Amino acid sequence: MDYAFILGTHPAWSVAEIASVLGESGLFWENERILIKKDAEIAAESLIKNLGGVLKIGQIEFFTPLSTPTPQLAKRCARLLVDKASRGEGKLVFGLSDQGVGGRFAADKLGLNIKKELKLLNISSRLVTSRDKELSSVVVGQNKLLSKGAELIFFLHRQDLFVVRTLAIQPFKDLSRRDFGRPARDDHSGMLPPKLAQILINCAGARSRGDMILDPFCGSGTIITEAMLMGYQNLIGTDLSERAIKDSRVNAEWIRELYGLDVRPKFHIKNAMRLSQFFKPNSVDIIVTEPYLGPQRGLDDIEAVKRELENLYAESMSNFYRILKPGGRVAMVWPVFFGHEFLKPSLDKWQMVKAVPEKFQKLPWLKLSYRDTLLYHREGQRVWRELIILEK
Ligand SMILES: C[S@@+](CC[C@H](N)C(=O)[O-])C[C@H]1O[C@@H](n2cnc3c(N)ncnc32)[C@H](O)[C@@H]1O
Repeated sequence: MDYAFILGTHPAWSVAEIASVLGESGLFWENERILIKKDAEIAAESLIKNLGGVLKIGQIEFFTPLSTPTPQLAKRCARLLVDKASRGEGKLVFGLSDQGVGGRFAADKLGLNIKKELKLLNISSRLVTSRDKELSSVVVGQNKLLSKGAELIFFLHRQDLFVVRTLAIQPFKDLSRRDFGRPARDDHSGMLPPKLAQILINCAGARSRGDMILDPFCGSGTIITEAMLMGYQNLIGTDLSERAIKDSRVNAEWIRELYGLDVRPKFHIKNAMRLSQFFKPNSVDIIVTEPYLGPQRGLDDIEAVKRELENLYAESMSNFYRILKPGGRVAMVWPVFFGHEFLKPSLDKWQMVKAVPEKFQKLPWLKLSYRDTLLYHREGQRVWRELIILEK
């Protein structure tokens, strides 16, 4: 079957994680927000729980020329809904998302036509609409489209209109609970959003769920707790701060109980710059981390902060090099301070790995930094995140 992935706010980060998890073969980056995976068998509901950058996964059902008259297209969509939509009690609930089809496509008109067609088949239905052309995962979830009907997504490929039926949406309630509901929070040091933690873990490319994952700046433990949920069994978090280790233990226990997991990560107070005194050489499979990114407030002398971070990262990275297995990877975030040069800690022996597969590097919508890395930022943020992937 052929699948479509609807990508999140930072599509290139999403593509990087999908390529790392599913492999590059059969992947086509269709437009900025859609990635296609051809000829695959995907368990969409379980997969989407582990992909922080993916909003929806759907199955490509059919395609038809964009010039197809609306009544004819409506008939085909109605038939698709009859055959494949979930049916709960009461009305069949459906919604249509225009994923950048362009001017000649009117989802509203099509929706009303589909309703009419369904009525002719004695099926009463409710059409869910929203202000945006694309229904958000929240709208799809709250209207129970996947259990009481279906969402159809439309996108354009050359002169053809592709029709996708949504199979799974991002578990936004769960993610928000893990983000804002965790018992131990440290707003002062800053916490990684769980979605971004998942993307980092995926980009590190562990080979098996038994691989040892280390987060040497674990803070309140987001990377470790997300890795627990993704099924990793061998997890270690270290941090210089006693409070961080306490918080991580509390949060990991909370996740264990909430999701009924069997895994028990280990946490230790350690300086990342001295880790090779604690771990044996060549013993860690992958390192995933968001390190100290500089003071959260009062960033006066940015050049001094940059020098301090370059020193911390260079020293830590040389320890990581010793303890990682050959071929092992580090996926980490570095800060980019708006209006300043990128960080350049010395990294003698490491190989920089491109996050996005080579075959997508020339696509016009792919925005890379001058050194081919991916950047992540929200509106108004002055400190951006840079994704760094290194291989020993
Ligand atoms: C940005 S926070 C990490 C946040 C974490 N990703 C989370 O989501 O909770 C940075 C952490 O680095 C720790 N840290 C700073 N210098 C360190 C060092 N030399 N070795 C180990 N940890 C250090 C701080 O104590 C802090 O907990």
